[in-house]
Amino acid sequence: MDHFDYRDGALHAEAVPISEIAEAVGTPFYCYSTATLSRHYRVLAGAFADRDVLIAYSVKANSNLAVIATLARLGAGADVVSEGEARRALAAGVAPDKIVFSGVGKTRDEMDFALANGITHFNVESEPELEALSAVAAARNVTANVALRVNPDVDAGSHHKISTGRRTDKFGVSIDVAPELYGQAASLPGLTIDGVDIHIGSQLTDLEPFRRAFERAIDLVHRLRDDGHEITRLDLGGGLGIPYGAESPPGPEAYAQMVFALTEGLDGCRIVLEPGRVIAGNAGILVSRVIYVKESENRRFVILDAAMNDLIRPAMYDASHQVEPIVEPAADAAFHPVDLVGPVCETGDTFAIDRPMPPLAAGDLVAFRSAGAYGAVMASTYNSRLLVPEVLVDEDRFAIVRPRTDYETLLDQDHVPDWLQETAALSRGAA
Ligand code: LLP
Repeated sequence: MDHFDYRDGALHAEAVPISEIAEAVGTPFYCYSTATLSRHYRVLAGAFADRDVLIAYSVKANSNLAVIATLARLGAGADVVSEGEARRALAAGVAPDKIVFSGVGKTRDEMDFALANGITHFNVESEPELEALSAVAAARNVTANVALRVNPDVDAGSHHKISTGRRTDKFGVSIDVAPELYGQAASLPGLTIDGVDIHIGSQLTDLEPFRRAFERAIDLVHRLRDDGHEITRLDLGGGLGIPYGAESPPGPEAYAQMVFALTEGLDGCRIVLEPGRVIAGNAGILVSRVIYVKESENRRFVILDAAMNDLIRPAMYDASHQVEPIVEPAADAAFHPVDLVGPVCETGDTFAIDRPMPPLAAGDLVAFRSAGAYGAVMASTYNSRLLVPEVLVDEDRFAIVRPRTDYETLLDQDHVPDWLQETAALSRGAA
């Protein structure tokens, strides 16, 4: 459920008309809803209410400080995969002891930054990483709490590029060799081995792959406890899917019931969850304006001012986002197939092909649904386009939580070496 609805024929985010925000910030822009973010967090937290659980919001899905702060205020922790994300989580007010540092390639500098700032929970993905973390923690004279991320060889059944739990994927250590590695890890200085971690992929729309993977992880917990390890943390990762269109993924309630059933008898083990998309995905839209409608021989192209650099999911994963006009179509409006495209110079800059849409004309506004996760965070300045602003709505108020950059800033990021200064100065002067 989300809080983007038509009211009196106009799309609103909560109580704010989208057209009003467009007027204030221009297009394209991302718009997030506080009520939706909060609802998604609360539904998940509610489903696990009776359990010792840490919901570590996966910051990679949407790392705007205002979004993290909205969730931190409700009690969320954070799952981070880089120093940048760790800095964001801390800056947004997440307590360091609620931050989990994940990721397959943490550098020693990143580990050191985390430990210096009280972040002590790490999900480690390889033997060399264990050794690095041990060295960094020992040098600092602190202890890092370690869960090994295990690879259960379970296919998430999601898109190939976001499935992570198959034997051939780069993630985790094979669950078959894990007991041995735990044995080695226990003897390394600076580490306390306290957990098992798993994450098999993203946008899962079926509970079965989760079930198979979790069963294997829980078997491992028992085995490790038998081996004498004190395992007090079971991190089940993220991955719960959302409806972009016709999919009907399991809800948090069904997911929680499955986890409860599987973990029955597993006492003294905190459950950690790393949800990203299920919290942020449907809490955001990308608003764009039609620049031209171009008729060609047998196609009608609706050329938008948003492009693949703003929302890369269709180009990268063949993802399909629903697109709705900001003005509610009349009940008897005729829908015709159009290609929704952006202005970037490659054919991959296509959001949808043959998408039935009501009549659209230059100047009309449309909203891409389900753009709150893996939208703005994956944006780039390809084609030297400016990063678009982000707006957070809270009931009847809104704030720009990231302003649009400007061309001055874009150009100032580059530096022309002194041997080219003369030419560059001439052309900048001309601009
Ligand atoms: N934990 C770990 C270790 C992860 O790698 C991820 C996502 C999550 C948690 C959160 O997963 P979620 O609950 O959001 O499914 N850019 C892609 C998705 C990449 C997901 C990467 N890892 C997309 O736009 O579909």
